Amino acid sequence: MRRLQNVLVTGGCGFIGSNFIHYLLNQPDFEGQIINLDKLTYAGNPENLKDIEEQYGNQRYIFIKGDICDFELVKGIFQTYDIDTVVHFAAESHVDRSILGPTPFIQTNINGTFSLLEVARYAWLEGKKEGCLFYHISTDEVYGSLGKTGLFTEDTPYRPNSPYSASKAASDHLVRAYFKTYGLPVIISNCTNNYGPYQFPEKLIPLTILNALEGKPIPVYGKGENIRDWIYVEDHCEAIWCLLKRGKTGEQYNIGGTNEMRNIDVVRLICNLLDEMLGPLSFGPRENLITFVKDRPGHDFRYAMDITKIKTTIGWMPKTNLKEGLKKTITWYLTHRSWVEHIKSGEYQRWVKEFYGGFKDAV
Ligand code: NAD
Ligand code: TYD
Repeated sequence: MRRLQNVLVTGGCGFIGSNFIHYLLNQPDFEGQIINLDKLTYAGNPENLKDIEEQYGNQRYIFIKGDICDFELVKGIFQTYDIDTVVHFAAESHVDRSILGPTPFIQTNINGTFSLLEVARYAWLEGKKEGCLFYHISTDEVYGSLGKTGLFTEDTPYRPNSPYSASKAASDHLVRAYFKTYGLPVIISNCTNNYGPYQFPEKLIPLTILNALEGKPIPVYGKGENIRDWIYVEDHCEAIWCLLKRGKTGEQYNIGGTNEMRNIDVVRLICNLLDEMLGPLSFGPRENLITFVKDRPGHDFRYAMDITKIKTTIGWMPKTNLKEGLKKTITWYLTHRSWVEHIKSGEYQRWVKEFYGGFKDAV
């Protein structure tokens, strides 16, 4: 079993990264320290880790504001903290934004990953450091789109369809190439759609929860028939932790929630759960807020994962079904009103305005 000591987490102030830092510092078999490098883009929120800062600040948790593309900064971090493990979350992550403006996706997701790999190569291979691991977090979207049947396996050819998924695919290829060419110890995992606490409300589930709470229109693209496989973020964090300890270097693993659902059904489920928990709004059930809008260009129809490999070789399986996970997520948003208010008063407002002026017009 691998022992992690000095762990560089990139993008730790984002949704999955901040959940992962909470998760890792709660594991009795993790005794190391975490260095969180985050640029604090619109999606990075230091409030996500306020409790961690208070509990572990400057002992087992260090935050550094900076860009993964900054080679000298990252090199300095590797030297100062003797980094042995990288868990690489930092990315531009939203498909709709990648359609409106792909440039930062190419810069962070491709060039940033390249820069990190270069630092790791010099520090670990030239320095002959042992027991290191570069763990790259990726997405099922690199495989493209499925029809009504079938599942993505680790052998499915890459066919990314959006600038986001193309940039993630490029970064996966670079990570793989550094293993094949230089022998850099790497693991890549590709995961399905995450949901849970701390998710920025540009993605379907938190956007639906907040709009349904406030009685605002809930935009559903096209006819809402597209299908995603949803995983509760804590289950994803657990899978990453298992792979960090027991994953085989040079390997790629699919992670999924085995919770497929059509978008319209996800949205209806959230509306119904909120009605049950809070009672309907004055004008009736929250489902009335559903508004069909123009479809996303190049919208992938369906994602679904075959998780046999991680199940059989690592012994990991998701624990949370979608209904239970949604209840926990809704409760989290209801009990973290100041987090929500802060998010809404900033960049999110500008994004919503810009977006509603674009392809999210009602049809
Ligand atoms: P997020 O957008 O919530 O967070 C991204 C974080 O990266 C933010 O804190 C941001 O400030 C930081 N960041 C962005 N550019 C940076 C840069 N140049 N240097 C340093 N930090 C930078 O994203 P997320 O949803 O938490 O996703 C994390 C990772 O997981 C991404 O690599 C994404 O591709 C992958 N992933 C996400 C999902 C999902 O459903 N959200 C599913 C599968 C894989
Ligand atoms: P999203 O949360 O953006 O994740 P991804 O595009 O990475 O799968 O979208 C999930 C699904 O929900 C996707 O099929 C697009 C759809 N969607 C809507 O119908 N309305 C929305 O407002 C958003 C943000 C997404």
